[in-house]
Amino acid sequence: MKVRVGVIGTGAIAKYRHLPEYASREDVEIVALCDILENKAVKAAKRFGVDENKVYTDYKEMLAKEKLDAVSVCLPNYLHAEVTIFALNQGLHVLVEKPMATSVKEADAMISAAKKNNKVLMVGQNQRLAPLHVLAKKIIDSGMLGKVYTFRTVFGHAGPEHWSPSGSWFFDKQKAFAGSLADLGVHKIDLVQFILDDIEEVACFSAILEKKDCTVDDNSIAIVRMNNGIMGTVETSWTYKPKEENGTVFFCEKGTLKMAVEPDAPLVAYFNEPGRGRLVFEVPALQTNEEGGQFNTGVIDSFIDTIHGNIANPIPGEIGKKALTAVIACMESAKSNRKVKIAEVR
Ligand SMILES: NC(=O)c1ccc[n+]([C@@H]2O[C@H](COP(=O)([O-])OP(=O)(O)OC[C@H]3O[C@@H](n4cnc5c(N)ncnc54)[C@H](O)[C@@H]3O)[C@@H](O)[C@H]2O)c1
Repeated sequence: MKVRVGVIGTGAIAKYRHLPEYASREDVEIVALCDILENKAVKAAKRFGVDENKVYTDYKEMLAKEKLDAVSVCLPNYLHAEVTIFALNQGLHVLVEKPMATSVKEADAMISAAKKNNKVLMVGQNQRLAPLHVLAKKIIDSGMLGKVYTFRTVFGHAGPEHWSPSGSWFFDKQKAFAGSLADLGVHKIDLVQFILDDIEEVACFSAILEKKDCTVDDNSIAIVRMNNGIMGTVETSWTYKPKEENGTVFFCEKGTLKMAVEPDAPLVAYFNEPGRGRLVFEVPALQTNEEGGQFNTGVIDSFIDTIHGNIANPIPGEIGKKALTAVIACMESAKSNRKVKIAEVR
């Protein structure tokens, strides 16, 4: 069975990831596209072989007129919840970009709508699908490095203006709700929660250090403590130049594990034990936002395979909500100058 898909929002993430990844699957038909800027959707339709009569500027009209099974929601953050809930209530499966929503309340409503309609709700938190992170989790779970004590995880680039020409909304608190924390922090928080444990408490500093006309953080540094006592830092930045950083280091009882840190070795372990030294794992590098750095994230494949019932949803709404809640805890900490427990966030 072909899954009939519509894409809502044909900006950067649709162009670089959703559309090419859908187009690469024989069991998917990209039926219709929607963008408030019609010429953008028309351009995308031409590029991905979609009938130009199936281009819409109003997503409700698209859902009313087209017979779809699923949609990707690739819109500015403040629209995620509204559009996702509408599509789920129309009986469609939804892949929504991260952060899944702008509040816990919205996330809960999205999760409820998916349950009520018995449809797939998946969140585009792709870091947990990257082969080097999947292997890193296996290494940690195997006990090869002993207990994890602390970690450092970083995601920074030169800013969304270098990624999306239409992305001025990223700087607007009303539309984005948070800056580098929501854009990049949500990925790294999800990653460390995937591999280690859930975050229990955070302390965070945020600032606008460079970006003009910006009402959200362009840099944030959070210290987090997890339920199992592991402590770490999460650094997010829109001012890392000229190269982006997207690496993670775990400092463990028996050595150190580095992910996407060393240029020649995407995943490498160093052991304390004399003679054991450095172990490089054979695994593809993490994709980057830089020129030529985009390739299959596995998100679309997982979404379609989940719809077919071939796999369990690897990034359901509940996982998206956990990452979002920790982001909100960081925002509250930065604002109030105090530590914030995840359990306090409503
Ligand atoms: N998973 C990832 O790694 C990743 C990377 C980048 C962006 N994202 C997420 O993807 C989402 C979109 O980001 P982007 O970089 O593509 O932004 P973008 O600005 O390039 O694209 C957004 C598109 O939505 C359109 N749009 C705005 N309002 C609309 C409406 N009411 N109806 C229809 N279309 C509308 C805009 O015209 C634009 O084309 C964001 O939530 C962002 O956080 C995820």
